[in-house]
Amino acid sequence: MRSRILSTGIYTPKKVVTNKDLESMMDTSDEWIQQRSGIEKRHWVSEGETTLSMATHASKEAIEKAGIDVDDIDMVIFTSLMTDYIFPGTGVLLQDSLGFKEHVPALDTRNQCTGFLYSLSVADAWVRSGMYKRVLVCASEIHSTSMDKTTNGRDISVLFGDAAAACIIEAVDESSESQLIDHKLYSQGKHADKLILKKPTPNDLRGRIHEGILDESDIWPYMDGKFVFKNAVTRMPQAMKALCEKNSVQLSDIDFVIAHQANLRINNMVLEHLGIPPEKTHNTLDRYGNTTACTIPLTLDEAVREGKIKRGDLVAFVAFGSGFTWGASLLRY
Ligand code: ACO
Repeated sequence: MRSRILSTGIYTPKKVVTNKDLESMMDTSDEWIQQRSGIEKRHWVSEGETTLSMATHASKEAIEKAGIDVDDIDMVIFTSLMTDYIFPGTGVLLQDSLGFKEHVPALDTRNQCTGFLYSLSVADAWVRSGMYKRVLVCASEIHSTSMDKTTNGRDISVLFGDAAAACIIEAVDESSESQLIDHKLYSQGKHADKLILKKPTPNDLRGRIHEGILDESDIWPYMDGKFVFKNAVTRMPQAMKALCEKNSVQLSDIDFVIAHQANLRINNMVLEHLGIPPEKTHNTLDRYGNTTACTIPLTLDEAVREGKIKRGDLVAFVAFGSGFTWGASLLRY
């Protein structure tokens, strides 16, 4: 038994925030943001939009495009770095909001920008083992409400956006021309503090929420941008090369690469290093910014809709993010 990506679905909030809009909130400029990251705009949630509501929209679209009923799915994986509640995870809420008749299980994963690849590999392994036949993998991220939107937080708040993206993984026969091939996943927890949101934390004996917490800088995400950048441009090519070597695939055999969407300069350097020409990739971060676990399924959805990826193409996904976590997946789409 093998698995394949049957369909994808996406949801992006209605509110669009341009670089010009950010200029009125902090000391930044459209020119700086575009030059340093390639981002022109991003979407931010409005009242009533939650990680769950976005996840539900994206999942319903993926289910509809697959031409299946929700009850044809027998497992849900939800991935996000920012969920609706501290507990329970949003996976069970999504299981409920989609209206399953059965008590299908729901797993939550938290692997930041590599969240989709980790989740995809779990779905693939379950389907291969025969445990489940159809798995919904859904990513949903809200960054806009957790960032310091003053000049103090400008190195991070200009980069991230909100979105959801889902896909249906289904069982196929070993001989199928469309199938997931393999994954390589990595982590290096010693660099957790290079990209981190520390508070509120249960480890504070004054209590998770205590008087004065609003004045603490740890309630905002911290990123050592240069360090993250250097590791991203090293680790992603390493993961791709290791995956190709393991599967006796030449980099030149790959038809299309979808890289995590954090920074256009990172992606250009990674692909150049791998010798992959620009026409073999697609980027969406100019319009959506970095939506962490959503970036790969969001970009895949668009590349398929635009006819850039076709069934049977040899496709690679590659990602790097907080943790650090990184990895790559290889598939025949
Ligand atoms: N607008 C204007 N100026 C800014 C801004 C801003 N938004 N942010 C920072 N600056 C300033 C800095 O303060 C600095 O000023 P100084 O020279 O007076 O000290 C100057 O711009 C240059 O800053 P650098 O850090 O040198 O800028 P750099 O070219 O490295 O780009 C960036 C910064 C875009 C953050 C880059 O380092 C980067 O993309 N890093 C990786 C980001 C990433 O991949 N994150 C992964 C997220 S993954 C996940 O899992 C969440």
